[in-house]
Amino acid sequence: MTALKNDRFLRALLKQPVDVTPVWMMRQAGRYLPEYRASRAKAGDFMSLCMNPAFACEVTLQPLERYPLDAAILFSDILTVPDAMGLGLYFETGEGPRFRKTVTTLADIEALPIPDAQKDLGYVMDAVSTIRRELNGRVPLIGFAGSPWTLATYMVEGGSSKDFRKSKAMLYDNPQAMHLLLDKLAQSVTAYLNGQILAGAQAVQIFDSWGGSLSAAAYQEFSLAYMRKIVSGLIREHDGRKVPVILFTKGGGMWLESIADAGADALGLDWTCDIGEARRRVGSKVALQGNMDPTVLYANPQAIRQEVSNILASYGSGTGHVFNLGHGITPEVDPANAGAFIEAVHEMSAKYHQ
Ligand code: CP3
Repeated sequence: MTALKNDRFLRALLKQPVDVTPVWMMRQAGRYLPEYRASRAKAGDFMSLCMNPAFACEVTLQPLERYPLDAAILFSDILTVPDAMGLGLYFETGEGPRFRKTVTTLADIEALPIPDAQKDLGYVMDAVSTIRRELNGRVPLIGFAGSPWTLATYMVEGGSSKDFRKSKAMLYDNPQAMHLLLDKLAQSVTAYLNGQILAGAQAVQIFDSWGGSLSAAAYQEFSLAYMRKIVSGLIREHDGRKVPVILFTKGGGMWLESIADAGADALGLDWTCDIGEARRRVGSKVALQGNMDPTVLYANPQAIRQEVSNILASYGSGTGHVFNLGHGITPEVDPANAGAFIEAVHEMSAKYHQ
């Protein structure tokens, strides 16, 4: 494999010294970019982009052509796993994801297969190896999956939800059924992420987008326990390099100490916690990724620079910080403002790494 030309993202995750703070953006390949919208129109729809390795590669690289980002992230979706378990994923324009089949009873859950990463999700593995080849060592490639709890909410609700009515009712009415579902998802996600690592992903992130909707006790039992299980089953070294693991629980700021004990290398932070305080709480155990409020990108470049400067100052000197947004970039953002954000991180962070 080609040697990495820019490895500061991997180095920061492992708390090795870096020249400047590395930066990438969750959802960096997406609708705020006109070239993404053009590719999607060419492919027909979102799932056709994901399922065709050449298209997935094309859109993965688009933000890297525009900005000096320090990592690429596989273009795919977390819901490919439930789709491979037979639920039939589709996207209604403007409506978000939907499943043809939902999971309501213990019998439904017992019947769910554990997908084979190569056979059932081969298109994702092909996308990973295609992107690695095309990146040609420019920056590392991040693989990803959803957390079992986050995937379970979509499978039980049949799509997105504001209140998680059905999934939480199952959690409290029939905890054994929910545990079986989460256990099957943990097995599926472990195999899926290991497949991505073997295909060339150089770091992996678990998106626990809805962990923060749970009570403190339910979070431990129904979300964190299964992420810990996945982390303990992951390939942690490949091709002579460590493969760092990032856990991102949106809304998990109150539970950082226990998340830091789950065995991952880094924690993703949303914008509701102060990164300096987070560093004091868990920075001896893990690196931190985050955490600018994505809506700051609606403000002018001056205000964006000020926010970047505040977050860098709060984290302070030394490695162990990967700059990111606290959640995904939104479709309405001006691409020029994303550029101002990335430039500000590199320019203003050098003094913290002397
Ligand atoms: O970060 C990246 O650039 C990689 C691509 C990526 C996508 N989805 C592409 C996508 C990643 C990492 C995801 C993860 C994902 N998908 C999550 C977890 C992250 C988070 O935001 O909390 C979740 C919950 C999903 C499920 C999902 N996929 C939803 C709810 C939606 C609709 C939301 C919307 O913005 O309309 C999607 C669709 C989706 N996934 C899009 C993209 C670029 C938009 C599809 C389009 O082009 O219309």
